[in-house]
Amino acid sequence: MVENSDALRRRIAELKRERNAVILAHYYTTPEVQSVADFLGDSLALSVKAQSVDAEVILFAGVHFMAETAKVLCPDKRVLIPCPEAGCSLAESCPAEEFARFKARYPGHTVVSYVNTTVGVKALTDICCTSSNALQVVESIPAGQPIIFAPDRNLGSYIRKLTGRENMVIWNGACHVHEEFSLEKLLQLKREHPAARVVVHPECRSYIIEVADFVGSTAAILEYCGTADAEEFIVVTESGILVEMQKRYSTKRFIPAPPDDETCGCNNCRFMKMVTLGKIADTLERMAPEIVIGEELRQAAERSIRNMIAVKGK
Ligand code: 13P
Ligand code: SF4
Repeated sequence: MVENSDALRRRIAELKRERNAVILAHYYTTPEVQSVADFLGDSLALSVKAQSVDAEVILFAGVHFMAETAKVLCPDKRVLIPCPEAGCSLAESCPAEEFARFKARYPGHTVVSYVNTTVGVKALTDICCTSSNALQVVESIPAGQPIIFAPDRNLGSYIRKLTGRENMVIWNGACHVHEEFSLEKLLQLKREHPAARVVVHPECRSYIIEVADFVGSTAAILEYCGTADAEEFIVVTESGILVEMQKRYSTKRFIPAPPDDETCGCNNCRFMKMVTLGKIADTLERMAPEIVIGEELRQAAERSIRNMIAVKGK
């Protein structure tokens, strides 16, 4: 068993060649994991990328729903997940059976679900969205058509406010990372760094969104920090994104916003951090664990993801 990081990186490179595999990783994974990725992205970019991959094997360095999405879109490829127990508090806040009962209470509604859901929820969904394209997805539905939005209550409320769509029922789910930011500590940081721009992910609570200079998905925040006429940014989202920010804009300064309880490390997604180089090497070695989805369920889920990809997002 190879322990050293450089040796692990070399072993992973060898195994990728032997297995004809590519590694897709989310920005929230650790810097070490990001360093072995062939493609690094936010959840929308990763879903789109999965479809155009030539390799026979996709190793998904991220949480379970992301690897599942890749498998739904690429049924002929083997999709490996180094850490199948890496879930997502948002996806877990919306079990498919409960969601089916909820949906039955609102007949005639169009169901919009964030990609942070299980394949079972996606199969009950008309059109998926990510934080990158939620606005465009909701706007693609005719005004007056009632909508169910799941599972993130904060993203849902934010989109309802932006679009003025009062006929939108929102599932009561949340992400443990984005709900934990403290307004008091954020305002203190703003006082200490008056020239800094505050950038916020829309999964945060509304009172945090209200003090933002910019609200957007991981990709949109990254782009904004490059184009904004500012040198300092207070970053109110998962702290893994700072690696890419610092890499792209090395002269700018990025300050992570603290969670309410600073001892909990809650501005880190504990699920994303479960993926390690050792687990990646081991997974490529054993070609397991692998995502397996029944064909009927996969096809039902695929329709909702394809409907999302057909809507242009940012
Ligand atoms: P993005 O859609 O910005 O990648 O966000 C994914 C996620 O899990 C947010 O918590
Ligand atoms: Fe899920 Fe939140 Fe982690 Fe994103 S940050 S994967 S929403 S638990």
